[in-house]
Amino acid sequence: MARSLEAPAKQKIHQTKAIERLVSFANGKGGVGKTTTAANVGGYAALAGARVLLVDLDPQGDLARDLGYERQSGQELFNALIAGTAPAILKNIRENLDVIPGGQALEDIQGLMVSRANRSDAGDFGDLLYAVLEPLADDYDLILVDTPPGERTLVEGAFAISSAVVIPTRSDEASIDGVERVARRFLAVRDRNPALQLAGVVLFGVGPRSMRLERSVRESLKEMLGSVAPVFDTRIRNLESASADARKKGLLFHELEGAVTEAQKDRLRALRSGQKPSDGFFSRNAAGLAEEFEQLTGEILTRLNEIEGGDRR
Ligand SMILES: Nc1ncnc2c1ncn2[C@@H]1O[C@H](COP(=O)(O)OP(=O)(O)OP(=O)(O)O)[C@@H](O)[C@H]1O
Ligand SMILES: [Mg+2]
Repeated sequence: MARSLEAPAKQKIHQTKAIERLVSFANGKGGVGKTTTAANVGGYAALAGARVLLVDLDPQGDLARDLGYERQSGQELFNALIAGTAPAILKNIRENLDVIPGGQALEDIQGLMVSRANRSDAGDFGDLLYAVLEPLADDYDLILVDTPPGERTLVEGAFAISSAVVIPTRSDEASIDGVERVARRFLAVRDRNPALQLAGVVLFGVGPRSMRLERSVRESLKEMLGSVAPVFDTRIRNLESASADARKKGLLFHELEGAVTEAQKDRLRALRSGQKPSDGFFSRNAAGLAEEFEQLTGEILTRLNEIEGGDRR
């Protein structure tokens, strides 16, 4: 039998495995609360004393809005990924909280990976990400990765090195379709990273008076997920004005509470001295959201402990 002259394609060997306590926030749909949830859960865990690293893998770089640091290009992270070197870290964005910022340069990753695809020794994006993040793992108790809504390469790369995935979703049909898409991606990556677990789904932006809708959405999600993962009990209420304030001021929800109270004192002072009061806040009550994120952080951390302890649902 004639033998092919072509050498058989070498099997790609991935150098990666799941990094413990690295959690990706993902949904195939945009605008469902991935960034808000990653930022506020990270903020609460840091407040509780955990050392937290937030990684922004989104070319939109929205984590900057929620945490109030200056928008970045993402070029430093991109360069670190290509070279396998230490990334630039914004240290102490809050106490116990560091950030690896994302930005537009991350748009080029997809193209980069296509151009490397024919190199049998090149590895995939998961391998690149692992090389950058694994050396940092010992410095943190928790690494949270905010992923973009599209950009399959980036999302699957994050899954390839995650120990768990949290899926925030709104209650509309399109967002729930996004949950299904992300669950499928999750299953596809599982061959590559068998340790990957679905931590659970977060109901985000739920109308305060939509009890029946919430119940029905929970039912559909449970049907879809079966025993694979829970829908967390805590839901994040829809509060557009408070969320607009948070992003405008670059504050997490528990910080907004204090800022609103301070602003109220300033307004009263201005009134007393006959000046026109103005504080630039749309909302007077972020307290509910702060509480919800505190509870959600507790639920997510408990679930991570269960996953680590091998109590897999
Ligand atoms: N509790 C809330 N109620 C209503 N809207 C909110 C709430 N919290 C945040 N938002 C707003 O919802 C929008 C989407 O949130 P976020 O950016 O977190 O979603 P995302 O899934 O990360 O989006 P993308 O897919 O673009 O990355 C933002 O404008 C945010 O300010
Ligand atoms: Mg986002």
